[in-house]
Amino acid sequence: MTRTLITSAIPYINGIKHLGNLIGSQLPADLYARYARARGHEVMFICATDEHGTPAELAAAKAGKPVDEYCAEMWQVQKDLADGFRLSFDHFGRSSSAQNRRLTQHFAMKLDEAGLIEERSSRQVYSVADARFLPDRYIEGTCPNCGFEDARGDQCDNCTKQLDPTDLISPRSTISGSTELEERETKHLYLRQSLLKDRLDQWIDAQDGWPVLTTSIAKKWLHDGDGLQDRGITRDLDWGVPVARGDDPWPGMEGKVFYVWFDAPIEYIAGTAEWADANGKAEADWERWWRTDKGADDVRYVQFMGKDNVPFHTLSFPATLLGSGEPWKTVDYLKSFNYLNYDGGQFSTSRGRGVFMDQALDILPADYWRWWLLSHVPESSDTEFTWDNFQAGVNKDLADVLGNFVSRVTKFCRAKFGEVVPEGGTYGAQEQALIETLSTRLAAYQRHMDAIEIRKAASELRAIWVAGNEYLQEAAPWSTFKTDPEQAAAQVRLALNLIRFYAVLSAPFIPDAAAAMLAGMQTDDDRWPDDVPAALATLAPGHAFTVPEVLFAKITDDQRAEWEAQFAGTRD
Ligand code: MF3
Ligand code: ZN
Repeated sequence: MTRTLITSAIPYINGIKHLGNLIGSQLPADLYARYARARGHEVMFICATDEHGTPAELAAAKAGKPVDEYCAEMWQVQKDLADGFRLSFDHFGRSSSAQNRRLTQHFAMKLDEAGLIEERSSRQVYSVADARFLPDRYIEGTCPNCGFEDARGDQCDNCTKQLDPTDLISPRSTISGSTELEERETKHLYLRQSLLKDRLDQWIDAQDGWPVLTTSIAKKWLHDGDGLQDRGITRDLDWGVPVARGDDPWPGMEGKVFYVWFDAPIEYIAGTAEWADANGKAEADWERWWRTDKGADDVRYVQFMGKDNVPFHTLSFPATLLGSGEPWKTVDYLKSFNYLNYDGGQFSTSRGRGVFMDQALDILPADYWRWWLLSHVPESSDTEFTWDNFQAGVNKDLADVLGNFVSRVTKFCRAKFGEVVPEGGTYGAQEQALIETLSTRLAAYQRHMDAIEIRKAASELRAIWVAGNEYLQEAAPWSTFKTDPEQAAAQVRLALNLIRFYAVLSAPFIPDAAAAMLAGMQTDDDRWPDDVPAALATLAPGHAFTVPEVLFAKITDDQRAEWEAQFAGTRD
């Protein structure tokens, strides 16, 4: 059996994600996981919340909660929304888990044993009032270049000059506003990635058929400028994985934590260990997905992420895995995405601009969003969400094509033959032609899904729905019935079987509608169609069904206008 390991970039804990985040990794990963399961693969699909780092600490402070409590609550919020969107993770973990702490400390030890860790001292800005070192972007002051008063420690937003915190005139902490800042000496661990440059270069060259977006970003980081830089992997923060060498303390590193980007990707592995623990499995059960010496050599590992995440997944995380000297599974195929924009601008979490996951589910069921987002996924360039476009896509594809087909066929059958698959008649030339079209298109659909070409797959699926509608239009059983009821029975029998066929093929995109279609057809036979004629003979004459409720309601112009206005500003 093919074994497929799938991970989605893990969303930051601080706040509810917007639709741009959703389509940038979790939703396409879910599409592929559902498809792979439907094709009979053994699948392990892992996601989690990314809980460490200053942004989490600050969000908790803003919410007036201890950071661990805040994270536990926000994990539940994100988990419920993931369920609402029908994201079918085998496990939705937490990067703050005990499993991730253990593995992160383990990797640091192995990297150190391999001579890849170095201690370095540097001077950093310390805030006496906050009793902590401040990351660059938590220091603000007056820009020495243009006089802008709210320039950040890393860059002036007014004149765009790159800055060092020490360049700022009258610097202050953005946490407390305090100006009592001083430079202090601090020690940190560095991962000597520069020593791994050739190995990473070879590793990337050895990858087969990766998307250009992925390899070009990786190569740019490897070769441009000074090439691959050594990377500080520890921070002076309270919240995070404490720096330790495996189970032992790391002398001189007391009170420090690992950098969030060091422990976050390790959570892919730890999340699988969490899955094992949560399901009463043994260590070997997660290791067979991740250790090539323990069964993972026949696993195909596919990652999903936005383009801004690519350097971390093509260089930093592989540096951790390869550098450890242990036989860890590395990614086989990395699918990355451009950005989805919102109505003439960017989605923005900090400014509350766009539609957020909770808001989306408040106004429409998950399938409407899943279909539109997946069929407009920013694969080859950035794309834009507009309410017009959303309304058009939903109404045309889901309501007019798929929903209408299901409703016409089932209602006509109920009226003329009752709620059972009718018997009599045989398939003629029209039916054979339809079966041929469907066979060709099914093969193309599978090819695109296998290649994770999501837009192409969506348009093939749409074409498969359209073919059924066209057949119905031409065969016109409502006319046939008047002269040749047997022939009409054969036409309706084929069309009812098409509903089941559509449910199975569409389930990765629109799982709820697919389930409703199968329920209406009173079957739980959701086997993937290997052979179209056989698949279209699954529901035999005499098989009972019920006319399903309306699958997709059209979005009215009034609704569109209302939502457009509602989401024009920013969320409070
Ligand atoms: N939280 C990061 C983001 O949303 C993604 C982390 S992915 C992982 O951009 F590799 F670190 F896990
Ligand atoms: Zn400036």
